[in-house]
Amino acid sequence: MSRQRNILLLGGSGFIGKQLAFTLANRGWLVTVPSRRPHRNRALLVHPGIRLLEGNITDPASLQDLCAGQQAVINLVGILHERRKGDFRRFHVDFIKTVVDACGASGIRRLLHVSALGADQATGSSLYLRTKGEGENLLHTFGQRELRVTSFQPSVVFGKDDNFINQFAGILRWYAGYFPLACPDSKLQPVYVGDLVDRIVNAIEDRDSYSKRYPVCGPEVFSLRQILELIIDTLRLPVRILPLGKGLSRLQALVLQNLPGKLFTMDNYRSLQTDNVCRDCELCTTSLRQYIHGLSAMFGNKRYYDQFRKNYPSAGSSEDHS
Ligand SMILES: NC(=O)c1ccc[n+]([C@@H]2O[C@H](COP(=O)([O-])OP(=O)(O)OC[C@H]3O[C@@H](n4cnc5c(N)ncnc54)[C@H](OP(=O)(O)O)[C@@H]3O)[C@@H](O)[C@H]2O)c1
Repeated sequence: MSRQRNILLLGGSGFIGKQLAFTLANRGWLVTVPSRRPHRNRALLVHPGIRLLEGNITDPASLQDLCAGQQAVINLVGILHERRKGDFRRFHVDFIKTVVDACGASGIRRLLHVSALGADQATGSSLYLRTKGEGENLLHTFGQRELRVTSFQPSVVFGKDDNFINQFAGILRWYAGYFPLACPDSKLQPVYVGDLVDRIVNAIEDRDSYSKRYPVCGPEVFSLRQILELIIDTLRLPVRILPLGKGLSRLQALVLQNLPGKLFTMDNYRSLQTDNVCRDCELCTTSLRQYIHGLSAMFGNKRYYDQFRKNYPSAGSSEDHS
């Protein structure tokens, strides 16, 4: 009889984390997912291979308890906006130290980490990217002796419940006329969540991936403007893009970062100053263009967005969780 394999998924209740939890559980892992708000993540409970727990993972003692009996840890905890000054450092750097210490104290030897494309401690164009880079460096140096570490650096990720296509589609559907778009020419190489998840799961027991940092991108490079135009065309919305120059893009960020929800901040603006594209890496295959066209063909363009939200492959279906 094969030994039960246990894995702790930090950030497993988020967009990428949920997909990862289902895929791991489908492949025989017993997945522990701590969350601050488990009641919001009940979809995870449908799979018998997933244990959803309430827990404060930033508390070192609680994290050590969660690590007991695990063979590996995957860390996806990350934020795009600071609620309080210092949050980027707290979650992208300090939390990494807590994770490494907890792994050390529990005898865990395998740690996988989701960073971000463009993360660089020294040259990252935003605090998000610099702190992501610092956390990664910490893991690959300080964590190195005790832990076998692998990091993934995805470009923007799309799929069910993403905060990217869904967010833009959600705003644009209520819009008519010209939509003022900041940083319209910034380049992105969107990657499908299922492709990213497969890479992570395949790496867990792959010795060749130890100590490696993998950029992860989809097959197509888009400008931000092209992505919005793809949504507008697919949803047949009465909207045209009004591209903003640098000055107005900054102004938009300054205004929006002070409104509830922080749709766009100065730090996001700075992240978009560097193209988020992969060079010299094996590309994932799922195309954003085909994915969106496929959904449109399946559900029709009439009230497409509602269908998109309701019928986007749901938790437990084979498309996203196989
Ligand atoms: N989505 C993308 O396009 C993209 C692109 C590049 C890199 N990444 C990176 O990939 C990782 C996952 O992204 P995602 O889009 O899946 O994120 P997400 O949906 O925002 O999920 C974030 C997760 O982190 C946990 N978390 C956040 N703040 C926390 C806190 N203060 N204390 C404890 N837990 C906290 C949340 O758990 P709770 O249940 O407790 O709220 C949640 O499970 C992040 O590190 C992100 O930087 C994402």
